[in-house]
Amino acid sequence: MKDFISIADIDRASMTGLFDLATELKRDRTGSNDLAGKTVGLLFHKPSLRTRVSFEVGVSELGGHPMYVTDAEIKMGQRESTYDIGKVLSRYVHGIMIRTFAHSNCTELAEAADVPVINGLTDLAHPCQVMGDILTCRERGKDLNSMVVAFVGDGNNVANSWVNAAGNMSFELRISGPSGYEPDEELLQAARAKGASVSVLHDPVEAVTGADVVYTDVWTSMGQENEKAERDTQFRPFQVNDELLSHASDDAIVLHCLPAHRGEEITDAVMDGTRSAVFDQAENRLHIQKAIMVELMGDR
Ligand code: CP
Ligand code: NVA
Repeated sequence: MKDFISIADIDRASMTGLFDLATELKRDRTGSNDLAGKTVGLLFHKPSLRTRVSFEVGVSELGGHPMYVTDAEIKMGQRESTYDIGKVLSRYVHGIMIRTFAHSNCTELAEAADVPVINGLTDLAHPCQVMGDILTCRERGKDLNSMVVAFVGDGNNVANSWVNAAGNMSFELRISGPSGYEPDEELLQAARAKGASVSVLHDPVEAVTGADVVYTDVWTSMGQENEKAERDTQFRPFQVNDELLSHASDDAIVLHCLPAHRGEEITDAVMDGTRSAVFDQAENRLHIQKAIMVELMGDR
């Protein structure tokens, strides 16, 4: 693989290989020199805690040099074209991570760039997140071939990447949110054509009943702030709280990509409860992204 833009672009064997490599890198965080002498550009058009810090730390731990660049400098598409930016950056850096709005910014950059491009979140997808999430499920003893994952909330970029992952693996995915907030229809059809077991439900209890993993994310994603009041009303019945969680399997884990809006999509009791794996999940961003970078930019 040249780039890492979408989980739909890779297959089950590649996913498993990345989980295995991430687990190996996690055992010895600083023992690798895979990116020695290499610089990775980190382009941000949206805010970030986890993605920025985990990529910076990850590149450093692999012996490379991370370079954080915001759109205030680049002004992609305004100051110069995405194509030219991809070509120029390729003369300086060995890889590029981009967090941006339109998914096309990421794909156009990847087409232009002669070096690997990694999607660090677009409006459409958040593949590094869901790879780290599935790694967390595996660490918590879930059977990736048979687990039931209930995604409760918005059919957003994170939900879409879960749909993509379901196309490669045989777990059951149930997505539950209000009508009009479903995941991307094209991605759903593509995943189902590959054999994915994905249902889109409007009843959170039906989605969570017997689930092994209960997942939620913010109701209003970055860039949708002017819809917040309407979304708060629509999503209210989809809060992940103790009552909803009581319908899940006894050993269910709770995941949230973070940042969380405590008291909105998830309660404090659930987020801080014994079933919550959210901070392991945040840590695993580091390990899975190191594996992705080694695969794309390393010489193994
Ligand atoms: N989960 C995640 O991507 O967090 P940040 O937005 O803080 O990077
Ligand atoms: N869906 C959220 C995820 C943040 C990591 C957003 O796009 O804002």
